[in-house]
Amino acid sequence: MNYRALAGEVAKITEKAAENIRKHLRNINNINIETKSHNSFVTIVDKQTEEFLVESLLKILPNSGILAEESGERDRDREFLWIIDPLDGTTNFIHGLSPVAVSIGLMHNGELVLGVVHEVGFDELFWATIDDKAYLNNKVITVSNVNSIHDALLATGFPYYDYERLDQYMNLMREFMHTSHGLRRLGSAATDMAYVACGRFEGFFEYSLNPWDVAAGTVIVRQAGGIVTDFTGGNNFLFGEEIIAANAKIFPELLSFVKRYMEAQ
Ligand code: IPD
Ligand code: CA
Ligand code: CA
Repeated sequence: MNYRALAGEVAKITEKAAENIRKHLRNINNINIETKSHNSFVTIVDKQTEEFLVESLLKILPNSGILAEESGERDRDREFLWIIDPLDGTTNFIHGLSPVAVSIGLMHNGELVLGVVHEVGFDELFWATIDDKAYLNNKVITVSNVNSIHDALLATGFPYYDYERLDQYMNLMREFMHTSHGLRRLGSAATDMAYVACGRFEGFFEYSLNPWDVAAGTVIVRQAGGIVTDFTGGNNFLFGEEIIAANAKIFPELLSFVKRYMEAQ
């Protein structure tokens, strides 16, 4: 498979999707918002974008399976599986805020091989394939060289429905408020990861995420020289609902803080 050529096709598709989302972002007052569950929202734009993406991706790679946020899964056991978040950052979107991103990952026999994150507000296309470097538009990107938390800007997502580990999480935040350059909560995990990949953030951590939030970002961070794991340093980050993504230099320190606080009772 020529993944680079495939990524070009995916980029054309996300370009169209992003353009449509941008149009709505500028006129957000007319959008009907549904509540899926506590603090989890969906709009017609999420749904229509997903329909468009699924249809378009199946055209460029027939016989592939789909795992998508709004419509669920189909043919999940196929050789190729698209993992799709049509609009990552819906809460931002319904408040007329950026970032929001289209996020598309591709798995081949269980291995992540391609990722495209198209951030709508700045119109930035982040992409990578397993056999190549990571790119922002056509420029190679790499993670930053910062080698200590002391000099790092970190990103996270605040818990908004699973409050069971909130105390541990708040203690971890307190630690980073003292020891790092600061913490950001952008509201789009796919964008957080893309920003780790291009060195804007040194690291990112969040729990309660879904595979479609992180699949594409994982490929981009890895190909940019970064590391992606779960909170134990293991590989169960895609379906395990815990993720750390960081430049390779601060990763051990970030992991040790996350372990120390998130494992504490
Ligand atoms: C959300 C965003 C957010 C993260 C949430 C996700 P959605 O995705 O990635 O940053 O904190 O956990 O659910 O619902 O806007 O696609
Ligand atoms: Ca998402
Ligand atoms: Ca979404």
